[in-house]
Amino acid sequence: MSRRICIPLLVTALLLWLSGVEALQAGAAKQLEIFSWWTAGGEAEGLNALFSVYKKKYPDVEIMNAAVAGGAGAAAKAVLKTRMQGGNPPDSFQVHGGAELIETWVKTGFMEPITSLAQTEGWLKVIPKDLVEMVSYQGQVYAIPANVHRGNVLWYNKRIFDQNNLKPPATWDDFFKVAETLKGKGITPLSLGDKLKWEAAHLFEDILLATLGPEGYNGLWTGKTSWTGSGVKRALETFAKALQYVNSDHAALVWDQAAQMLIDGKAAMNVMGDWVAGYFTAKGWKPNVDYGFLPAPGTKGSFVIVTDTFGLPKKAPHREQALNWLRIVGSKEGQEAFNPKKGSICARTDCDKAKFDVYLQSSMADFARDKLVPSEVHGSAAPETFATEFNDILNVFVTRRDVGAAQKALQEACVRAKMCK
Ligand code: GAL
Repeated sequence: MSRRICIPLLVTALLLWLSGVEALQAGAAKQLEIFSWWTAGGEAEGLNALFSVYKKKYPDVEIMNAAVAGGAGAAAKAVLKTRMQGGNPPDSFQVHGGAELIETWVKTGFMEPITSLAQTEGWLKVIPKDLVEMVSYQGQVYAIPANVHRGNVLWYNKRIFDQNNLKPPATWDDFFKVAETLKGKGITPLSLGDKLKWEAAHLFEDILLATLGPEGYNGLWTGKTSWTGSGVKRALETFAKALQYVNSDHAALVWDQAAQMLIDGKAAMNVMGDWVAGYFTAKGWKPNVDYGFLPAPGTKGSFVIVTDTFGLPKKAPHREQALNWLRIVGSKEGQEAFNPKKGSICARTDCDKAKFDVYLQSSMADFARDKLVPSEVHGSAAPETFATEFNDILNVFVTRRDVGAAQKALQEACVRAKMCK
């Protein structure tokens, strides 16, 4: 080969090699770390569906799933705090809209606003105002809601109800009648798994709403409704009575095990948010065939909002990938892939209803017409310090059943959280 041909060939080869190295290096740097607590049935499927949509669009990005197991973030939230405060944030993390996002992360200066992204992606036109408010502070948007879960649902095993000729209870009075009948037949009326504390607090939150009504319930978070008043007293008494009908091993189980008891025919009812619908779907259990659903007793007309959102921490290690993640989370395609598996409805109003089962379609209808109230147990209604105390107080109540002591403790926690005087 002549020298004249050989040198250009060598240069070309060198250039090709260099561009290959560059591509490899760029590839290696393209990572995305997503933090959540979605590991249970329905949760993991939903998260993976979002990852699939992301991978389709950004195939050269390696996704690192940093999920920490434990319903409602019982373990994840502490891990996240350590990481954020230690200057080691994930690229994006699951956080509830409302107080949990704004008080814990935004006001403390840990988040970057994503207002311009929200505008260019057109989110503000398709996400209801109530939800936009839950992720906004001082006119800036700080996170994109992925979904809307409903916190106040009663789930029941249809076969047990049909075989025993029972009507699902619309009120707590009805509940106690049905529960007596079931108990008489040797069937556990209500499944509960409160190993992580929040699950019992969740049941109580729904009883508070039933007892106080939406206005009275909302007043709890603004100091208008007294924790030491007769309403909360009645709610605690109802809670104590409901606890007489739960499985004896409740303290050893978590929420999805309590849901599994319905599938196994070991209990007739469960009161929990509609991540249970995601769990049932993951297990092949069908709405109106295997299980029935209705608003938690006494809460028809109210919708307890639980919204999971994602934002952009300052110093996100892979900022560009994180922004693309937010684009996917907020997109129609992303929300339509995620929500039918997660057991939630889209935060967007333009999702295709046909992609959702009958339970989720009914949730969409209720969300559009019901009074919307925030969940305290799931981070939206009150600061996290109060939420933690609330869980502890309710947990003590589950064993002691001391109404007066619980009311006093709740009032003191309310003052400490500066929600009451
Ligand atoms: C909630 C969360 C849901 C669901 C549930 C159980 O706090 O918003 O997405 O995962 O916990 O883990």
